[in-house]
Amino acid sequence: MSTREGKLVGRRIVITGAASGIGRATAELFAEEGASLALLDRNEAGLAGLQGTPVAVDVSNEVSVETAIDRAATALGGIEGLVNIAGIFPVAKLAETSLELWNETLAVNLTGPFLVTRAALRHLMKADEPTIVNLGSASAIVPYPELSAYGATKGGLAVLSKVWAAELGPKIRVNVVCPGMTRTRMVSDWHPDPAALAERAKQLYALQRIAEPVEVAKAILFLTSSDSSFITGSTLLVDGGRTFH
Ligand SMILES: NC(=O)c1ccc[n+]([C@@H]2O[C@H](COP(=O)([O-])OP(=O)(O)OC[C@H]3O[C@@H](n4cnc5c(N)ncnc54)[C@H](O)[C@@H]3O)[C@@H](O)[C@H]2O)c1
Repeated sequence: MSTREGKLVGRRIVITGAASGIGRATAELFAEEGASLALLDRNEAGLAGLQGTPVAVDVSNEVSVETAIDRAATALGGIEGLVNIAGIFPVAKLAETSLELWNETLAVNLTGPFLVTRAALRHLMKADEPTIVNLGSASAIVPYPELSAYGATKGGLAVLSKVWAAELGPKIRVNVVCPGMTRTRMVSDWHPDPAALAERAKQLYALQRIAEPVEVAKAILFLTSSDSSFITGSTLLVDGGRTFH
């Protein structure tokens, strides 16, 4: 058994999108590191088996978010860290992007983090060394075709993270993690053939593979823990070299 002190012992943290993929890996890692967690997702059943208080939320709905953050703060006795991970990934050519799809993507991926962060702010302001980490995407830096709405939300979130770092400093540190393709449902829906996906990764990534969810979770851990105490407003690429390759 490890005798190492966890990096988040006693820290009270809200994670959105915790039911699946990167959010689930982050919830597991943060629990191992000693955090007390409130786990928010629209798929409440998917939160089963994780350590923490499960809270149902639709991040795109203001009332749902306010209720969920109140429940999270009450369960934890405060909020010291927030990780905005919940997101959707619609792939559509520009000509086939309906206004409905566009609006839904913005509502979940961009308005969602805005609503959740705004609701959590009064709790974060009372905390010691509070942090916010947002999940952007390498696709906001090296744009992909057929990701108009998605790319716009991730580019927007990268800018929002810097605006918040400027506005909320010195009290709150705010950073954005930008992963490349990561082995989750989002990517297996996009590239259902594992052999074709592996071949694509070989061509696009310096490391010639896609990321595992825990590799992204470790970057989120770094930016949430005091190991990154002088880092704010930064964009951390976790992209296997995708953006320079
Ligand atoms: N997987 C990748 O390759 C990749 C790459 C770059 C960035 N990202 C970003 O990482 C984040 C997590 O992606 P993932 O691959 O783990 O996806 P995922 O689909 O496995 O998980 C997304 C989670 O968000 C939840 N969610 C979706 N809409 C919601 C809503 N309205 N309210 C509350 N919860 C909602 C889902 O229920 C799910 O649990 C997303 O923001 C995504 O854009 C993923």
